Amino acid sequence: MKNSEHITILVVDDNPTNIKVLFNFLRSSGFKVLVAKDGENALGKLAEVTPDLILLDVMMPGIDGFETCRRIKENVTTQRIPVIFMTALADTEHKVKGLSLGGVDYITKPFQQEEVLARIKMHLKLHFLTEELAEKNAQLHELNASLEKKVEERTAELKKAQAHLVLHEKMSSLGQLVAGIAHEINNPVGFIVGNLKHANEYTHNLINVIKLYQKYYPNPAPEILKEIDAIELDYLLEDFPQMLLSMQEGTNRIEEISQSMRTFSRSDTDTKVTFNIHDGLDSTLLILKHRLKAKSQHSAIEVIKNYGILPEIKCYPGQLNQVFMNLLANAIDALEESHRDRTFVGMQTHPSRITISTGIEPNTNSVTIKIADNGIGMTPEVKQRAFDHLFTTKSVGQGTGLGLFISRQIIEDKHGGKITFNSVYGQGTEFIIVLPK
Ligand SMILES: Nc1ncnc2c1ncn2[C@@H]1O[C@H](COP(=O)(O)OP(=O)(O)O)[C@@H](O)[C@H]1O
Ligand SMILES: [Mg+2]
Repeated sequence: MKNSEHITILVVDDNPTNIKVLFNFLRSSGFKVLVAKDGENALGKLAEVTPDLILLDVMMPGIDGFETCRRIKENVTTQRIPVIFMTALADTEHKVKGLSLGGVDYITKPFQQEEVLARIKMHLKLHFLTEELAEKNAQLHELNASLEKKVEERTAELKKAQAHLVLHEKMSSLGQLVAGIAHEINNPVGFIVGNLKHANEYTHNLINVIKLYQKYYPNPAPEILKEIDAIELDYLLEDFPQMLLSMQEGTNRIEEISQSMRTFSRSDTDTKVTFNIHDGLDSTLLILKHRLKAKSQHSAIEVIKNYGILPEIKCYPGQLNQVFMNLLANAIDALEESHRDRTFVGMQTHPSRITISTGIEPNTNSVTIKIADNGIGMTPEVKQRAFDHLFTTKSVGQGTGLGLFISRQIIEDKHGGKITFNSVYGQGTEFIIVLPK
């Protein structure tokens, strides 16, 4: 509570004798005292100073004490000042009216000085405590609000981290699955490859023997002749080695695929390892092959590779492959989207195309990878937000809005590179990755 000499009391009364008595008595009790001779005068003073308490006479010329009180309580800057009514009329009706208008107490004339002082002190104390409480409440409110904001921020962060984790989890379990399948395929394929080599040799030998028979026994028994005719031996001898060759070709391709699958799923190491970017791009393309093929809604997507000569770079291969996957899948989505309103003639003159270019930037000594498509492109609004967390223009289930967000993290945070893009709506998009060498 303030020191009494810092406490100001406004006394409002039209009776000069009363004012004088109160003034002297309050001054001698240590208060600062202001006086007003009627209600209007009091309101005028209140526009300039804010006393800590008001002693208000009820019966005054002009506006009476009740009306003055009503106006004090109406004004936000004065409404919290405690008002004590003073009157010679001690009837209950008056008291009730005064209190209902917001007065805190009632004292009756003639005054009992000790009683007045006690009441004033009590109401001042109450007033200051109330003010303090209000202030504490406001602080609490503020604290609460900032706490709520913090909780909200933290929740958003957590959600982000969780989404990232889920995706990471999915990617790594996909990687494991792919690696597992590649491994399982390898065994039987190795089997076939190994046996094909012998089969080739055996076939070669058998054919040789048959040719020798034909040379030294040009006139075999009729039964043999009949059989030779039935099986079309000449054709068979020519076709059989071809057949084995194409089986060889087939197994070679299976081996390549399984190699690509293993490259794609190369499990992430804690440290960077050297990696051939082109292998990463090729294995990713292979995994997306089914989406590049012609469908009922669109013709095949042509992939043009402008690969430059790149050194192997130190990186996290699994993560880079994830970026290539995101960008290529986005390009395919954009091409499919543009097909929806493209005519057949349009498709002929303007075939769907993904162009992948790589090279070294001689000035900065960095590796550049560009993935361009001639798909639907982005509107200015989409361009603004493309990298935003959870921003997607695709339907639920098709898009997560995480692809570019995570790609940027991988390229910029994990590899110290840069990912940018150019896009023109209706024409296409080009993503540019720059990685330090
Ligand atoms: N090659 C592109 N062509 C056109 N728009 C694209 C391309 N790549 C990304 N976008 C736009 O950026 C948005 C965000 O992409 P992304 O973060 O990968 O999330 P998602 O593919 O799940 O929507 C996409 O929804 C799309 O609107
Ligand atoms: Mg995407």
